[in-house]
Amino acid sequence: MSKKIGILGSGGVAQTLAGGFIKHGYEVKLGTRDTGKLADFLGESGGKASAGTFADASAFGEILVLAVKGNAALDVLKLAGESNLKNKTVIDPTNPIADAPPQDGVLKCIRQIKHSLMEDLQAAYPSANFVKAFSMIGGAHMVNPQFASAPTMFICGNNAAAKNDVSEILKKFGFEPEDMGTAAAARAIEPLCMLWCIPGLTGQGWNHAFKLLKK
Ligand SMILES: NC(=O)c1ccc[n+]([C@@H]2O[C@H](COP(=O)([O-])OP(=O)(O)OC[C@H]3O[C@@H](n4cnc5c(N)ncnc54)[C@H](OP(=O)(O)O)[C@@H]3O)[C@@H](O)[C@H]2O)c1
Repeated sequence: MSKKIGILGSGGVAQTLAGGFIKHGYEVKLGTRDTGKLADFLGESGGKASAGTFADASAFGEILVLAVKGNAALDVLKLAGESNLKNKTVIDPTNPIADAPPQDGVLKCIRQIKHSLMEDLQAAYPSANFVKAFSMIGGAHMVNPQFASAPTMFICGNNAAAKNDVSEILKKFGFEPEDMGTAAAARAIEPLCMLWCIPGLTGQGWNHAFKLLKK
């Protein structure tokens, strides 16, 4: 299993997932336009994380995480550099959230249900292997969340080996991965972030997770 993780991003999701990877014994480099934003995080990581440009982090990682604002994802991948993405698993927690305020607790999107953000990313960088994951739960519950049983994490992507990489990581992070199929399934997975956020945005709290029940 690859042990070097390049995390594109400096925000809450990037830092939370970086902390999770460090906890589980991986080496981490975060990428950002401004490494100063990560000074506190790097100080607290005890030397187990480093930071650089988006290109530095993508060159470092054997597996990448795209933890950036949805409407900046294509710009960030361009800065990362196509050659640094080639044949790599790219974990994609991005959501196509618009800047406009929510309506009745329902977030607004920059994509329509007939076409997902991840399909655009996969089409722009066909040699990278995108896998949707970590998109349908809040950052506070992304690493070994404490619920009565393991939450489901729906994933999808076109490359079976990449989905296997991500499933192994998800199990370490305390989730039950559920493979929903090709990148087209992101049309159904990305809107789950809107559903997940409704209780929080309507004052009912943020402490919940999805679980797929089977028999
Ligand atoms: N917050 C959550 O609980 C949660 C849960 C599930 C999924 N997600 C998704 O995870 C992703 C990251 O979320 P987040 O809350 O951690 O942070 P965010 O505020 O959505 O994104 C911050 C990151 O986006 C980059 N960015 C923003 N505008 C940019 C631009 N114009 N050009 C280049 N880079 C730009 C920033 O780069 P710099 O470092 O260079 O400033 C930063 O690294 C989002 O797509 C979000 O929808 C969030």
